[in-house]
Amino acid sequence: MASKAFRTLDDLGDIAGQAALVRVDLNVPMADGRVTDDTRLKAVVATATELSDKGAKVLLLAHFGRPKGEYKPEFSLEPVVAPLAEVLGRETGFMQRPSTDAIAGLANGSIVVVENSRFAPGEEKNDPDMARMIASFGDFYVNDAFSVSHRAHVTTAGLADHLPAYAGRSMERELDALEKALGDPEHPVAAVVGGAKVSTKLDVLKAMVTKVDHLIIGGGMANTFLAARGVNVGKSLCEHDLTGTANEILGAADAADCTVHLPYDVVVATEFAPNPPTRTVNVHEVAEEEMILDVGPAAVEALNDVLKICRTLVWNGPMGAFETPPFDMATVALARTAAALTQEGQLLSVAGGGDTVAALNHAGVAGDFSFVSTAGGAFLEWMEGKALPGVEALRK
Ligand code: 3PG
Ligand code: MG
Repeated sequence: MASKAFRTLDDLGDIAGQAALVRVDLNVPMADGRVTDDTRLKAVVATATELSDKGAKVLLLAHFGRPKGEYKPEFSLEPVVAPLAEVLGRETGFMQRPSTDAIAGLANGSIVVVENSRFAPGEEKNDPDMARMIASFGDFYVNDAFSVSHRAHVTTAGLADHLPAYAGRSMERELDALEKALGDPEHPVAAVVGGAKVSTKLDVLKAMVTKVDHLIIGGGMANTFLAARGVNVGKSLCEHDLTGTANEILGAADAADCTVHLPYDVVVATEFAPNPPTRTVNVHEVAEEEMILDVGPAAVEALNDVLKICRTLVWNGPMGAFETPPFDMATVALARTAAALTQEGQLLSVAGGGDTVAALNHAGVAGDFSFVSTAGGAFLEWMEGKALPGVEALRK
């Protein structure tokens, strides 16, 4: 398993009194000063409490938003401290600026959030001087933020050049799950790739056709593939300039023995609004003024049958415009099938990236998948087969 290629917290000796520099992802969605989804806060708990229980001084390093190297009060991490303390169930401090004196003054077992790492101009440049300076405050480094590991920054990668580096518990779980799904999976493997645009997922699609047995394409991007096959998609969202690329991907899939599943019936409407009049039609019957907004029920049934013969599933992106009823039907139905197969022990299911968690939460099944990643961009880059700087730094 991939994570065994890294040192983990199991490899730490006596750390009482030592300062642990722990990269976590506190880039949580906020509205009116409140955290609206605390999934990423929960991901901090295992590592922070374990290190604290062992008597380390736990310094949580994280970013919030994209302040671009200067102090901007609206990007302060201070408002995240109280919600994090609540999730941790422990007193949690806040440190504006780390210093040797301030850290010496901390009690063993303290947990402290350090202010937004991206206020420092060196962070996103992975500036070696900044890395050396921050590293001087700690005895060891832990990366527990897979979701930021596609960034080569001081706190995600540079610190590993100066300190013994370990994968945290959430990182470990994430790498294990992704390895099982894409590294050395049980076949047949299916990938669901959905979402609005082909252009944002070209590299994902190209990588998937070489790795999976069944590629299920849904969402707006399916329209581009349908158009590439000569289907008139009417007013549907469609990147007509990418039909050539779509055909290349279909050709590569053929060559790799990957079966691509495109919808053959679809739900259409003439306006994109909640609960408009809709029709369910064969893809060849979309009228000029209509838009495809969801995969149709006959295709969903066929896709359910595909999942039933598979052992592994990687899911990224919704099948239809799931946030606007009734165009959530295909996403919900397929997600429920995947969840049920997972619960029966038939399927290992891993989902992640952007809208995916929201879509599975909407279907009420996120908890029934084998693993749901909190990562957006990092999950996509992993699917693309790219090396992630934050993960590579741990391998050294
Ligand atoms: C995320 O929210 O996807 C991660 O925290 C990374 O943030 P970034 O895209 O600003 O690097
Ligand atoms: Mg992002």
